[in-house]
Amino acid sequence: MVTAAQQAPDRPVLVVDFGAQYAQLIARRVREAHVYSEIVPHTLTAAELAARHPAGIILSGGPKSVHVDGAPRLDPGVYDLGVGVLGICYGAQLVARDLGGEVARTGRGEYGRAELTVNEPGVIVDAAMPGTQPVWMSHFDTITAAPPGFTVTGGTPGCPAAAFEDRDRRIAALQFHPEVAHTPHGQAMLEHFLFDVCGCEPTWTMASVIERSVAAIRAQVGTERAICALSGGVDSAVAAALVHEAIGPQLTCVFVDTGLMRRDEGEQVVETFRRHQGIELIHVRAADRYFERLSGVTDPEDKRKIIGELFIRIFEEAAGGITDARFLVQGTLYPDVIESGTRDAARIKSHHNVGGLPEDMEFELVEPLRSLFKDEVRAVGEELGLPAEIVWRQPFPGPGLGVRIIGEVTPDRVATLQHADAIVREEIAGAGLEREVWQAFAVLADLRSVGVMGDERTYGHPIIVRAVTSEDAMTADWARLPYDLLERISSRIIGEVPGINRVVYDITSKPPGTIEWE
Ligand code: XMP
Repeated sequence: MVTAAQQAPDRPVLVVDFGAQYAQLIARRVREAHVYSEIVPHTLTAAELAARHPAGIILSGGPKSVHVDGAPRLDPGVYDLGVGVLGICYGAQLVARDLGGEVARTGRGEYGRAELTVNEPGVIVDAAMPGTQPVWMSHFDTITAAPPGFTVTGGTPGCPAAAFEDRDRRIAALQFHPEVAHTPHGQAMLEHFLFDVCGCEPTWTMASVIERSVAAIRAQVGTERAICALSGGVDSAVAAALVHEAIGPQLTCVFVDTGLMRRDEGEQVVETFRRHQGIELIHVRAADRYFERLSGVTDPEDKRKIIGELFIRIFEEAAGGITDARFLVQGTLYPDVIESGTRDAARIKSHHNVGGLPEDMEFELVEPLRSLFKDEVRAVGEELGLPAEIVWRQPFPGPGLGVRIIGEVTPDRVATLQHADAIVREEIAGAGLEREVWQAFAVLADLRSVGVMGDERTYGHPIIVRAVTSEDAMTADWARLPYDLLERISSRIIGEVPGINRVVYDITSKPPGTIEWE
């Protein structure tokens, strides 16, 4: 497998995760400064951290108090590695406590905005920054004294030692969160740490990511053949384009056209990959098989199961024709790598990823996106020349429109939904909101209602419009779309899509709802 380490620059900045919701954000901010960063568990010893040859170490925040039993600790050897160390929030409290400062329960925690007053500018909070500036806090315990040898560069009303550093030892700490947008000078502080304390160079660019990945893929695959299942989504598309860049005609892609994709999407996949990218593509037109198997099926879990199993069977049939393929390309992303095993996997729906790995197939995996966040995957896609419609495509469920049609999935009902869905997406794009909403789509319900069009009574089906904002699909809020946009969507759907006589807007957040309807 092409591992993150193989693709990464030799000297990463390691973010030690103490259970913070912000650890990923810290890593992303470091990468935005063009320095490669990875998240590592706090259980690693100083020797294990040193073995990764870090250019710097950032200690993340965390939910615990340093005073409670079982609070996560850092191997104190880390402070003697001679590598720059920056503690943030809980990380700052660890630095204070471990090196002889004081962390107290003053009962004066701070949450949200606070005003930082600069006492004595240093390397991180420097002289170019305003003497007072807003910072974002979220702490219960308070650092009341910095360790001996440290200069306190700034304080807030609730935390006298909110920023402190020891230039000689290359250790600094910030009680507030420099990684969030609410700390306006936070990115500059992180960059001071990276460039002035750790001596990093801003060389981690998308072009360098591609160059390194291509070399790693070539080293892994050699002269063998690889296959990749394209779903039409961003991740498999970028993974395929990257592998193609590395091994050209040794890659064959398989695209299973289920007939359950959005309007024109199947043709677009073929057009993009076969014609523009010149990738060898097996296009399996499988809509008839899907409709046949789904006939009469209305239970959501049954539908998901049928669609998932049929995908695997068809993929296996297609892949079986490429008998000499040894490698399977997958679009696994960094958040999946970090969270696998740690995420609380309460199963709400049996998610099936088109492009998911058939369990009993014997392939070695090529996972060229394992070290990347979603926005970085998009940037790589753009750099590789993939079209904006694919690079900026919204998430789409593996079972496709099959789980957006309540009740039986038939060719007519799919055509109706594709038509309404295309209107929703056209109007949202026309209003310039496509990238603001996480997902926007139509759902076809199987109930009927009475209406009147012209002088005629109608008895038709409703379309449900769903648009949500979200960061990661774990939680979501319904999008506050402008009324006039909703009105245009409604009147166009009723005017243009036969059989639809009512449009409703779903105003349920997740939880308690889910994003999809089935
Ligand atoms: P829910 O409906 O669970 O969806 O709130 C969360 C996110 O996952 C997408 N989704 C799927 N993605 N296979 C996928 O690859 C699936 O079976 C599947 N079901 C839902 C959904 O579109 C949303 O972004």
